[in-house]
Amino acid sequence: MQNNMKWFATCARGLEPFLSKELHLLQAENIQEERGGVSFTGSMDFVYLTNLYLRTAVRILRPIHEGELTSKESLYDLVREVDWQKYLTLQHTFVVDCNIRDSLVTHSLYAAQLMKDAICDQFLEKCGQRPSVDLQNPMLQFNLHIYRNRVVISLDSTGDSLHKRGYRPHLHRAPLNEALACGLIMCTGWDGTTPLVDPMCGSAAIPIEAAWLATNRPPGLTRKQFCFQTWLDYDRQRWHDIRDEARSKVLKSLASPIIGSDIRGDAIRMAEQDARSAGVGSLIKFEKLDIYDCYPPDGYTTGTLLCNPPYGIRIGEMGDLRELYREIEPLFSERFAGWRCWIFTGNLALAKLIRLKVREKYHFMNGTISCQLLGYW
Ligand SMILES: C[S@@+](CC[C@H](N)C(=O)[O-])C[C@H]1O[C@@H](n2cnc3c(N)ncnc32)[C@H](O)[C@@H]1O
Repeated sequence: MQNNMKWFATCARGLEPFLSKELHLLQAENIQEERGGVSFTGSMDFVYLTNLYLRTAVRILRPIHEGELTSKESLYDLVREVDWQKYLTLQHTFVVDCNIRDSLVTHSLYAAQLMKDAICDQFLEKCGQRPSVDLQNPMLQFNLHIYRNRVVISLDSTGDSLHKRGYRPHLHRAPLNEALACGLIMCTGWDGTTPLVDPMCGSAAIPIEAAWLATNRPPGLTRKQFCFQTWLDYDRQRWHDIRDEARSKVLKSLASPIIGSDIRGDAIRMAEQDARSAGVGSLIKFEKLDIYDCYPPDGYTTGTLLCNPPYGIRIGEMGDLRELYREIEPLFSERFAGWRCWIFTGNLALAKLIRLKVREKYHFMNGTISCQLLGYW
């Protein structure tokens, strides 16, 4: 087995250091943080390990060819340099996903189309037939990345983004992306040995991700489909062995409580439902509660409070929000004194209404919104 295959795990901006730590734990080699992802090397096992275990990644790519654009049209020849029969058969359907910045080619749809044509033309010449494109439900996904005319062609081993864990089927009003929620928890340094409280939990991405972390439950454990399962070198037995081993290490209980509360009863009902479908319904305590009525769990003088208050872009009225943020100050400094308290917000003006010293500050992108994780204790 080839041990030094190149891989690239993509993630949301700001999560690179946490993704890099996760890859160290998996004993990947040559780990290098880049913008929006982390490159590393390792054997074919890494396609199974990363898709199964990584909590902060979006997708795992396997670069198969690189080159330089000399004109718009040169992309076609570059794609033809790959022997596509090593990765694709006429029975497969495929799609090309493309991202471009600062290059001779400027339209990603044009580039994706050109790459598709190059692949199909090669098949037509070699086999007399062409494979089919399926935009909705492709068996294989190829990734074309062009930055400053440097082209990287990769196989996408993941398919649907890894942040879609499968436990939140319905739409919440302002859901936090699961991979980001998990990155925030990692950023606080919480390790499961002390309580974790989210007093504005909404649909509970933070409590559920915390429960999965604390019980060693890999996020990909029950996912039904990954693109790598249609790869020509997919080793079904190896994937099942790796997944079964991970399953045998999942803990059944928590060392310390995880609590989620929210002022909205419908949010709590949704949170309970999602926690049940995530297999941690009996581990997390949920309550319908105004944040002003939230107290640390009995007997705990320390712990982590992590919340994502509304910040005016998606939900909430600014006037009420000012009041809400002002009231957070005594909650953190008095009632939760001794705890590490964190807010994740996209509105720094509102955060400034909490007149406590910011001990730690991190920047993340929440979709297109620039956000801060601020720590007070
Ligand atoms: C941005 S959303 C949180 C989203 C959440 N992280 C998720 O994963 O779905 C903010 C939440 O704060 C709740 N909220 C607003 N004011 C509150 C208050 N006074 N007490 C408790 N929760 C409140 C809202 O109901 C909403 O669910």
